[in-house]
Amino acid sequence: MKRYAVIGQPVAHSLSPTIHKAFAEAAAITLDYQALAIDAADLAARLAALHGEGWAGFNVTLPHKQAVMALCQDLSDAARRAGAVNTLIPTPGGWHGDNTDGTGLVQDLARLGVTLAGRRVLVLGAGGAARGIIAPLLATRPASLTISNRNPWKPEALSEAFADLGTLTPRTHWALKGDAFDVVINATSAGHSGAMPPMPEGLFADGAVAYDLSYGKAHLPFAEWTTAQGARTVHDGLGMLVAQAAESFRLWHGVTPDAASVLALLRAD
Ligand code: ATR
Repeated sequence: MKRYAVIGQPVAHSLSPTIHKAFAEAAAITLDYQALAIDAADLAARLAALHGEGWAGFNVTLPHKQAVMALCQDLSDAARRAGAVNTLIPTPGGWHGDNTDGTGLVQDLARLGVTLAGRRVLVLGAGGAARGIIAPLLATRPASLTISNRNPWKPEALSEAFADLGTLTPRTHWALKGDAFDVVINATSAGHSGAMPPMPEGLFADGAVAYDLSYGKAHLPFAEWTTAQGARTVHDGLGMLVAQAAESFRLWHGVTPDAASVLALLRAD
């Protein structure tokens, strides 16, 4: 039986095994999908050993998404642009690294009926999560894409790194005062410590939609803030998690799974 896993540390609570097993069952594909805890110090040796054991693919989660890049034989454009790998595909000589996070976000927004083309889009946060979604967001041709952060230099660096793909407006959160947006995406990790960065008032245009890359408890501070600020709807990132998994599944198996029905299963739990 083909063996797959999500690798990270900690990884025991990952939803990836549940999601991939549900995709496989629906597609009548037989596979084994595990969660493998690997320490950062062991990553290179373990990946080489797992390749030798004939594993058929891995999803990569924290804290290895950046470190695994240097261990790949080659990288997709998406992984190179994102500066991170979330999907490994075996090649005869090693691992091919890809990244499906940004595609997952854009696909989930499409599932929700959120239009990006011609809209004013704001991304809060300028770390690894933000970097991973910029190229796919620019490809949707928004009217503008603004990246804001507590400090100005991270958004400025992103704006330079992606200049060949489109215009990205770098801002500090406070410099957003007076601007309004149609789609606001939270890519900060602040929710994981129960916080929402202090932001100026009035960022949501009429009918604006808010989307959080976080889900579960980490989503609550952003949900509260967006509701108080008058966003029309706010979505958590569980749909993106399922959609990025669906894209990894497609890369491994050549079959596009029905992300919406697996998302409904997770929400029902
Ligand atoms: P990730 O890979 O999840 O993006 P990261 O690279 O550490 O993690 O980036 C986290 C992002 O969340 C950054 O934009 C960070 O802002 P700073 O660059 O100013 O640190 C933001 N962030 C994290 N905690 C925050 C908080 N309590 N308030 C505001 N922003 C926060």
